[in-house]
Formats: sequence, structure tokens, C-alpha cells
Amino acid sequence: MTDRYAVIGNPVAHSKSPEIHAAFAREFGLDIHYERVLSPLDKFASTVIAWRDGNSAAGANVTLPFKMEAFALATEHTARARRGGAVNTLKFDGARIIGDNTDGAGLCRDIVDNLGFEFSGKRVLLLGAGGAARGVAGALADAAPALLAISNRTQGKAEELAAKLAADVAACDIKVIAAEKLTTNRFDLIINATATSLNDDLPLVPAACFVEGGLAYDMMYGMVDTPFLKLAASRGARTADGLGMLVEQAAESFMLWRGLRPSTAPVMASLREAQHAARAVR
Ligand code: ATR
Repeated sequence: MTDRYAVIGNPVAHSKSPEIHAAFAREFGLDIHYERVLSPLDKFASTVIAWRDGNSAAGANVTLPFKMEAFALATEHTARARRGGAVNTLKFDGARIIGDNTDGAGLCRDIVDNLGFEFSGKRVLLLGAGGAARGVAGALADAAPALLAISNRTQGKAEELAAKLAADVAACDIKVIAAEKLTTNRFDLIINATATSLNDDLPLVPAACFVEGGLAYDMMYGMVDTPFLKLAASRGARTADGLGMLVEQAAESFMLWRGLRPSTAPVMASLREAQHAARAVR
């Protein structure tokens, strides 16, 4: 019998998840059908339940803007989902709906395994305190850098996030830095988890924060030349977009569903190739 999965979001047409999971399934010779489901903005829970029941589905990924609603829909949560209050992976088991969040693990795996960055002793800056930042902050703190600094346009949100993290992580120093005070600070790794790249904008980060040979990571993917990454490159930092995170978080979801860890490198390479080909056509 074919096992059915989906990515549920709005919009969802451009999601690469079906291709990624199809490649994972091929690696193990599994019979999986993975589709895109567009949920009306005001009908997330009923859309998920109707799709699950109509397809005897095994699980789903949840993307913007529903990760908080997916948390509310889940009947139980993994510890990492509970920390961020957001869910990107649902596993269906009878009436049970298990909610997990694989974004933070996917980001850290990309940074450590694929980009070769070691957190130990490093100064890390997380830009943003919205849903995307909250989804990965716990995993970044668990990676135990020397410092995890958080900076956000609306400072109160960064303070809230830092307080929550400090309450359950003792592994590193956590600090909020106001945007106007960033100038005197240098960071080995700067992660852009704001929505700025979507609008071709720059987050509030001065050029002085980047260091030569440091790493700048934009959680957006498919936009290699974001203003954030251009600024970082101009300061001699290495740059990475979120394509690796996308594939690694998918691999973590696949693990939750199937108990198997797929190879991510070939999938990343083929998505990267498709991205280059699309750019060459433009
Ligand atoms: P997401 O789920 O994608 O994180 P969100 O919860 O709306 O979306 O959060 C968007 C993040 O991008 C926030 O940190 C936001 O800053 P505020 O908390 O001050 O709103 C940040 N952001 C969006 N536009 C920005 C801009 N032009 N400059 C700086 N930060 C911006």
C-alpha cells in the first residue's frame, strides 16, 4: 500500500518538499506519495483532518503560515516542538497527532555537517524573533556556542525569546543586543531569520559585525544574492542560503515518519543544479 504524505501551507505551489521526499523514498525503495495541499487561511485544522481521513495519510509537513496552528492541532508534542511553540511535522497514528519541529535540527545539521562550522567557542548572532527565529533558537542554544546573541527590530520580542531560552538552556550565554548597539560586536556566525530577504531588504545589521572567514546564513532559499548575503560577502564572510536547511529538515521529518536517515547530499546537489539552470534561463 502507498503511504501518503503532504506539505500543507498557503502558498504551497513552490514547495520543493515533494521532490525531496520522492528522492528520499527512492533511496530506500519505498512506495510513498507526497503532495502539496493548499489550505485556506482560515481552515487549517479542518483541511488537515479532511485530507488525513480522506487519504489514510501517515504524516504531513506544515509550512507558512500555519506552524503555530499545527502546534495547536497536535495532540502531543516532541520536546523540541514544545520549546518553540511551533510544529512543521505531523505524524498521524490513529486519532493521535504527534507534532514535531525539525527546522532547528535541520539548520544545525547543515551548518555543522555540510558547512563545516564548529559552534564550540564561537559568537553567534540570530537576527529576528518571529516564527522562523523561534523555531531554530533552541537548537542553536543547544549547539553550545560561547555566545548566542539575538537582535530584532522589535526588541521586546527578542527579550521574550531570550528569556524563554535562558529558562531551559544552560549550555551557552544568551544575550539580547539592540540593533543600534551591534556595531561594536563581531560574530563568527550570523543567521538571518527575519523576513527581510523576501522583500529584497536588509535586516538591521551593520557591516562591522561580519568577520573575514566567518559564516553568514540566510534561512531563505533560492535567493543566493540577498542583500544580507551580499553585505556579508563584501566583508569577506562565507555565505549560505537555506537550501541545505530545507533538505536537512526534510530528512529529519523522514526520520520521524520512517525511522530511516536519507542521504541529503545528492538531493541538495540536484536542487542546486535546478536552481542554477532556472537562473541561467532568466
Ligand atoms: P516568520 O514566521 O517568517 O518569522 P514573522 O513571525 O512575521 O515571520 O517574523 C518576521 C521577522 O522578520 C520578525 O523578526 C520581524 O521583526 P519585528 O519583530 O520587528 O516585526 C523581522 N522583520 C520583518 N521585516 C523587517 C525589516 N524590514 N527590518 C528588520 N526586521 C524585519
